[in-house]
Amino acid sequence: MKVLEERIREEGLILSDTVLKVDSFLNHQVDTQLALQIGEEFGRIFGHLPVTKVLTVEASGIQFAMAAGIALGVPFIYAKKKKAVTQSEGVYSAPVHSFTRQEDYRISISRKYLGPGDKVLIVDDFLATGAALAGLADIVNESGAELLGVGCVIEKSFQEGRSLLEARGIAVHALARISSMSPGEIHFIGNPDT
Ligand code: G4P
Ligand code: NA
Ligand code: NA
Repeated sequence: MKVLEERIREEGLILSDTVLKVDSFLNHQVDTQLALQIGEEFGRIFGHLPVTKVLTVEASGIQFAMAAGIALGVPFIYAKKKKAVTQSEGVYSAPVHSFTRQEDYRISISRKYLGPGDKVLIVDDFLATGAALAGLADIVNESGAELLGVGCVIEKSFQEGRSLLEARGIAVHALARISSMSPGEIHFIGNPDT
């Protein structure tokens, strides 16, 4: 997605070879028009599929799941994060290991809002190690719903997220795919989707 790549080039802060800060327009302050355009792009990519729910994890996936839900005309659900303690009744939950924070947590959603018969699109801001997205895929499986695909705003292709998900048979689409970066320099992979 050209407009997104340009924005990343203009405003992204590359903190190291692996961490990109996009706080000015994506995941702290949010450019609302851009977020809606991102939703339309997901609508274009996934609109031929019979999606019934969009699923993400709090916090910074929410605005893009909402935008995709608007474009597809379906609700979105955000999984809540909790310290890795006991599982409670009435929820689907899955453990996640955060590599960046070196801690474990659980994500959960109410059983009321997902079940057999649902067809799910997972959306998130970053595809990095894929740990949170794999946890969401586990929740979809547990619910008996069908996972139709994963859409990410920014993929860091040099991390293992895509291969982790594809190894599970999940179709992954990203709107901006970074092949490599270092302070002052960023390279994108030409994107067949956008
Ligand atoms: P993930 O690929 O499954 O998201 O797991 P990982 O442990 O690699 O990433 C941990 C958190 O850091 C995630 O947010 C992820 O979106 C975010 N992240 C990963 N790489 C980058 C990056 O280069 N830049 C930025 N800005 N964020 C990155 P989270 O823990 O789910 O928190 P939240 O921000 O959604 O609340
Ligand atoms: Na996120
Ligand atoms: Na994040």
